[in-house]
Order: sequence, then structure tokens, then C-alpha cells
Amino acid sequence: MQIHSSIAELRAALKHRGRVAVVPTMGNLHAGHIALMTDARTHGDTVVATIFVNRLQFGPNDDFDRYPRTFVADCDKLTAAGVDLLFAPAETDLYPEPQQYHVDPPEIQNQLDGEFRPGHFRGVATVVLKLFNIVQPQVALFGKKDYQQLMVLRNMTRQLALPIDIVGGETVRADDGLALSSRNVYLSAAERAEAPRLYRLLGRISEAVRYGERDFLRLERDATAELDRNGWKTDYVAVRRQSDLQCPQHGEDGPLVVLAASRLGAARLIDNVEIAGPGGR
Ligand code: PAF
Repeated sequence: MQIHSSIAELRAALKHRGRVAVVPTMGNLHAGHIALMTDARTHGDTVVATIFVNRLQFGPNDDFDRYPRTFVADCDKLTAAGVDLLFAPAETDLYPEPQQYHVDPPEIQNQLDGEFRPGHFRGVATVVLKLFNIVQPQVALFGKKDYQQLMVLRNMTRQLALPIDIVGGETVRADDGLALSSRNVYLSAAERAEAPRLYRLLGRISEAVRYGERDFLRLERDATAELDRNGWKTDYVAVRRQSDLQCPQHGEDGPLVVLAASRLGAARLIDNVEIAGPGGR
């Protein structure tokens, strides 16, 4: 696997490479990332991974400084996964001067995760557009665990007419259901044992909606109460339309998804379950 940190070098290495599939990451790679790399191989002749912990998408109280950086282990995993090129710029490579031009997503950037992480999606959209301009891929893959991120990036790509197919990869889970996440390392042993409750609850809500329950507020309130009784601090549990993550209206729901973010100790966990079946669409 070739490793490049400079934009010019990466561009030179990508000449005449055929169809390029990119998987942007912030490193500390787990099986969820590796599944995206493997999937990328089915979409492109050349697979590019990026590793960059993007300061722009972290708020002042977020975990930018302690975000796990595991570059050597990440390179081993990417090599084993057959990735062709890794773009791992330093901050001075990607932001040689303060970034003054940004991508400002629409109102959805202030809802759900955006309500609790102001500016987050602006930072994500800005760095991803910049990475797209640098790598110039035909395909880009992102995990569905970050469901709102995937929706924002899909809509950005469509509205700005970028010639890139956005592919969403299924969430990879531990045997007990916990979604794999770089932030799971913040969980103590006891919290790790408690953590699968989030997915179990989302599964229960999904089943209830599938079987016709329409009182979403009650489902959301009950789930929040159960989490909070068990030591979590919940930001939101929300049943939304998959297409635009807005609140479903009676009679014109379309496919739904239930999303949640909650803090357990030092870890802020997010997860979601798409709702399949009669009541979910
Ligand atoms: O999902 C992530 O790891 C990041 O938000 C991304 C898409 C790499 C942008 O920094």
C-alpha cells in the first residue's frame, strides 16, 4: 500500500488509475471500516482510504485531543484489506491556511446530532468536499452508523452535482449488538456490558412501529427513560423519515429509521435501526 501525505503526491499517484473508490476515515480502524474497504473493492479499480482527524468537525468540548490515533495498526489493517493507497495528511497539508470557505448544510445540520454538536456537520461536509476534490473518486463509501452524516453527504453530493456515487455500508456490530465505533474504547468494562442496551431498545422500537404503533413520542420517551434509569444521559431517541430525517407525518411516512445518541460514562454512543415492513414504510 502506498502512503501519501501531500496532496500533489497523491494526485500524481492517482493518475491513470481507472475507477477510484474512496473510504474517508478518522483512523482507529475497526471491522466496520474494513468492511467498507472490502466493499470498495467491488466498486472501483483502485481503493483509496483516507485518515485525517478533522478538527473542524469537533466542538470545543468534544474529544479532538484524546481521539484515539493508532496509525501503525491502521496501516497494517489497510494493507491486509488490500487497500491500494492511503492518504494521511497532516493538518498543515489539508489546512495550510485557516479554512475560511465552508460547506454549510441546510437546517438538518441543527437537528438530532447537530443540536448537540453545533457546527459538526459543517465541518464534516467541508472536509469531505475537500477530500473529494483531492482524490476525485467516482465512488465514496460511508457507514450507516453515522446515518445523519451519510444523509448530509449524499444530499451535498447530489445538490452540488458532484460526479460521485455515495454508497452506505451496513453497521457492523459486536456479537451482543453494540455497533462498532472508534469511541467504544472510552467504555469501562461495566459500561461495555451495559452498552448493547441502546441497540436492543432501538430494535424494540423498530418492531413496535413495524407492527403498527404510531405514538412515536411515547416510544421515544419510554426509551429515554429506560436509558436514563440505567445510567445513560440521553441526547435524543427519534423516529424519523429515512429520506430527509424529518418527523414522519401521518399517512405519508415513507420508510422510517429510529436514531439515538446517548452518553455512557465518557463515551457518547450513536446508533440507528432502519424500520422495515408494513408499519415502517
Ligand atoms: O465518519 C468519519 O470518520 C468522519 O466524519 C469523516 C467522514 C471521515 C469526515 O472527517
